Amino acid sequence: MAIRTILNEKEDILHKVCRPVTEFNERLWEQLDDMAETLEASNGVGLAAPQVGILRRFFIMDVGDGLVEAINPTIIAKKGTQDGQEGCLSSPGKWGMVERPQKVILKAQDRYGKEFTLSSKDLAARCICHETDHLDGILFAERAHEMLQET
Ligand code: CO
Repeated sequence: MAIRTILNEKEDILHKVCRPVTEFNERLWEQLDDMAETLEASNGVGLAAPQVGILRRFFIMDVGDGLVEAINPTIIAKKGTQDGQEGCLSSPGKWGMVERPQKVILKAQDRYGKEFTLSSKDLAARCICHETDHLDGILFAERAHEMLQET
């Protein structure tokens, strides 16, 4: 395992649409393991593949109840709204208010290609929306209705 460099929002790759994962092999697992180590080292709650330079559709998150690995994720249902503060490991020092669904249902594959669904709410739902956006090249600042002062 290795800690990978987290790219800054200024990098082109963070504004591109990622391609689906087609091979669930050791290369993918190594990328996932590296991302988990990188996330832990940076005290974040989520990390998407393009943030470490991989233009593929997957992310990891850990909002405090265990690591989730989501490959080729899709949000298949949304309910309610929540408004709250959001930041991004690729945008150090930047914070903004973003409205997101209160609850989402995520459909994705695990690291072996097996499909699963996950019902999430609150911070987990926010994180899933934020990370899924990354796979389409969308950063939270583009969704924010208000940017907060840098601290
Ligand atoms: Co982010």
